[in-house]
Amino acid sequence: MENFQEQLKNRRTFAIISHPDAGKTTLTEQLLLHGGVIREAGTVKGRGSKKLASSDWMAIEQQRGISVTSSVLQFDYDGKRINILDTPGHEDFSEDTYRTLMAVDSVVMVVDAAKGIEPQTKKLFEIVSQRGIPIFTFFNKIDRDARSPLDLVDEVETVLGIQAYPMNWPIGSGQILQGIYDLQDNELIPFKNAKADESVMAEGMDEIELLKDAGNEFDRKAVDQGRLTPVFFGSALVNFGVTEFLREYLKYAPAPGPVLTVDDLEIEPDDPQFTGFVFKIQANMDPRHRDRIAFVRIVSGEFDRGMDVTLQRTGKKMRLSNVTQFMAEERENVQTAVPGDIIGVYDTGNFQIGDTIYSGKRKVQFPDLPTFTPEYFNRVIAKDVMKQKSYHKGVEQLVQEGTIQLYKSWQGNEYIIGAVGQLQFDVFKFRMENEYNVEIQFELIGSKVARWIRPDQLDEKMASSRNLLVKDRYDQPVFLFENQFALNWFRDKYPDVDLEAKM
Ligand code: G4P
Repeated sequence: MENFQEQLKNRRTFAIISHPDAGKTTLTEQLLLHGGVIREAGTVKGRGSKKLASSDWMAIEQQRGISVTSSVLQFDYDGKRINILDTPGHEDFSEDTYRTLMAVDSVVMVVDAAKGIEPQTKKLFEIVSQRGIPIFTFFNKIDRDARSPLDLVDEVETVLGIQAYPMNWPIGSGQILQGIYDLQDNELIPFKNAKADESVMAEGMDEIELLKDAGNEFDRKAVDQGRLTPVFFGSALVNFGVTEFLREYLKYAPAPGPVLTVDDLEIEPDDPQFTGFVFKIQANMDPRHRDRIAFVRIVSGEFDRGMDVTLQRTGKKMRLSNVTQFMAEERENVQTAVPGDIIGVYDTGNFQIGDTIYSGKRKVQFPDLPTFTPEYFNRVIAKDVMKQKSYHKGVEQLVQEGTIQLYKSWQGNEYIIGAVGQLQFDVFKFRMENEYNVEIQFELIGSKVARWIRPDQLDEKMASSRNLLVKDRYDQPVFLFENQFALNWFRDKYPDVDLEAKM
């Protein structure tokens, strides 16, 4: 058994971001195969299913007696223990996806090499890039006809505004894929069954010469700060280039680092005091079980089952005995976890998103998680006016939990809820009905561009049908612009007014 310091040094906690269908699930599965967690491809993804359905995970769990959930996957490879935090990118896209990115130490961006950077990738990238953590790029599906690799790398730089450094280079793609050229070791890794094609080979070698002359320098510091992304090519489906990717990734991806508190104290991971923060709260969708799970990212110290901690916001003391370790190979036997790991604490309503917990006496408070700019809005009303009390209680609690964001009309105090994904509205409605017994009705406001305005610059006459004036839960004024054009028009008309987006 590794000691605490060794465990810490060998942790790698990351998320994979991608546009739907780029191959995130397939790559995840290949990584799990490398880790020996699953033995056959196709185990993870039910045939035809488009995502990591939790039922699939449950089935795997039962079959193999291991603990994997759709939220956190853990496996060992090459002496490292790897935690992959799932970031749903499909119909279940939500603020949870964004918040999960606040709990990782690096990110892998999977891009379809035939398509390049797609909208969802760009959006997720923008959230990640503000954190200044390493971002690795994997251009997938080179076993199919792909776009020119020079184009793809250029697109990363121009569309995302980050420098790119190819670690390897594809020679051809699809039917004429010759292999990938390892730019570190200067050797070709041939693609099995490749039809040799001299002109493709020559063209590839020319590109490599060009890269060597004109490409970016490899700058380790820039990688660490997320200003330069190491770029890999491969095919998750046929497991080509995945091993090389994983090897290099593990070389450069960081172990858990220090986190700054609101008092500017740097909490080092090897600090003996246990600390962590809640980045996600998941309610049990089964109405017979009202409990929720608070996902805690461990920042420092060692977690021991049954330990006592303080919830910073309320000062409440609690014992962490009812805790799930998603990542344990054998759930019952593992009693400890270290920084970089995620523990799931069963919660009866104590926790909020962004809460800090700590052991011992020293008070620790990590900064709030950022607010994200919502993109969809609905007015919400209770169908039954007699249920106002439960209605307000439900809204308040679900807002605290981070299920949705609450706004109000500027004048009338009508509730308007905002979300980054439509799924959040469904979850909100379901939980209002099942947990608070209140039927609600939405009145569509739709997709808007939200911008905060400084209260001292606000003139109510600025509002119009194309920019609805509302206030956020802290009573700050926000304009909901019909679209980007309306926003630009407003900017032209009021050039001195500052408009701000959240993260
Ligand atoms: P996602 O999680 O990012 O949404 O993508 P996912 O892994 O589900 O992959 C989307 C589709 O792309 C799947 O095909 C998958 O088999 C395919 N794919 C993933 N990686 C590669 C690759 O390296 N090469 C090729 N050629 N295809 C790849 P599908 O037909 O939509 O699903 P299925 O019917 O195979 O399950």
